[in-house]
Amino acid sequence: MKTGKLTVGDKEIELSVKVGTENEIGLELGKLRKETGVITLDPGFVNTGSTESAITFLNGEEGVLRYRGYPIEELAANCDFVEVCYLLIYGDLPTETELENFRDSIRAHTMLHEDIRSFYNGFPRDAHPMAILSSVVCALSTFYQDALDVDDEDQVNTCVHRLIAKLPTIAAYSYKKSVGQPLIYPRNDLNYCENFLQMMFAVPTEPYEMDPDFVQALNLLLIVHADHEQNCSTSTVRMVGSANANLFASISAGIAALWGPLHGGANEACVAMLERIIEDDCNVKKYVDMAKDKSDSFRLMGFGHRVYKNYDPRALIIKKACDKLLSKMDRDDPLFDIAQSLEEVALNDPYFVERGLYPNVDFYSGVIYRAIGIPVQMFTVLFAIGRLPGWVAHWTEMHKSPSARICRPRQIYTGPGAREFVSIAHR
Ligand code: CMC
Repeated sequence: MKTGKLTVGDKEIELSVKVGTENEIGLELGKLRKETGVITLDPGFVNTGSTESAITFLNGEEGVLRYRGYPIEELAANCDFVEVCYLLIYGDLPTETELENFRDSIRAHTMLHEDIRSFYNGFPRDAHPMAILSSVVCALSTFYQDALDVDDEDQVNTCVHRLIAKLPTIAAYSYKKSVGQPLIYPRNDLNYCENFLQMMFAVPTEPYEMDPDFVQALNLLLIVHADHEQNCSTSTVRMVGSANANLFASISAGIAALWGPLHGGANEACVAMLERIIEDDCNVKKYVDMAKDKSDSFRLMGFGHRVYKNYDPRALIIKKACDKLLSKMDRDDPLFDIAQSLEEVALNDPYFVERGLYPNVDFYSGVIYRAIGIPVQMFTVLFAIGRLPGWVAHWTEMHKSPSARICRPRQIYTGPGAREFVSIAHR
């Protein structure tokens, strides 16, 4: 198909068609209003492609996810997270030298400016770490004012490396502050995941011994979260970036979007739900019935997805890793058991089957985070660390695109018509 035709009233217009690598077809509607006077209306962007993109492919009907052409299953089995960051941001898997240079550069930026440490005293002890993460990331733009030119490739690249290096440090500090422990400096002799775990759990008084299984599990979780094309937070990063806002400000906005329980916050909400079910005599059926009841706002957290109408491939990878980690630790987690029962009941229920509702990435991730000792409030923070390379890749792709324009949707106004102003004395 090369063109499509659209009839609006008595006008028929011809629209160009964009065909993607995997034969996805998009009708180009940019000229619709100019030629017919009408706009398209698509709340929630259910049927709207906001951009072309060469970063991630996903097919929700078949449960396929690929970063830069590579299946997620292969990347999860063979790569480390820093390698996947390189792939997403620069477009290809790195050679050994490229990867070593990239790692060196990331290592060189892991520390935070000492003045940033004092910010942590200003937040309440019980502040949500996502609020801290978003604030401190935005504040980085005040410390690196010499590198904020969005059109300067070298400056942008430096900001990218700073962000990837510093996000785990910012995140771990927020946790340390919440438990009243000293902030632990990064250690550049450790790898990315090891370094994060030592900043989270080491204390100055005792040696910290790291479990390699925890490092491996964390690495896998970061990889499966690394990108997911035009999701809510990524679209936010692109939208804020489309105004030429600097990278720190754009990523800070993405973190805020990710915090929502319908998006990245679902992992935290899912664990809260599983705990509630356990406290309620493990009555799985009751919660499945509540989720089906349209008069009840309760939803199964970690279930359903805008794009996947099949099993989320990330959930499959995480579930397997969960099983492996828990049996290796010889640990029975009632949360994992309940999650599996809930999945079984839901997947055999016509309500879920008819709507194509399956476990998503957030359904089992909390169980692994718990197993490696990550506190619940930090779950979405881990999602943010994982998603960072995806946000960065999309921000830079947008800036390099010759067709990039400021994102500015239209609306159908439904408020009052023009009315005469009434002075306050006569209202
Ligand atoms: N529990 C019960 N019913 C559901 C659920 C659920 N979790 N999700 C969707 N439905 C129903 C919904 O009520 C609707 O039914 P009907 O057709 O009778 O009105 C139908 O399924 C379609 O749902 P929708 O709300 O129109 O779908 P959406 O694409 O707008 O929303 C979603 C997608 C992910 C926000 C939604 O499935 C949801 O709220 N899930 C729970 C939160 C969650 O797990 N979010 C994480 C998403 S994956 C990771 C990420 O993006 O960060």
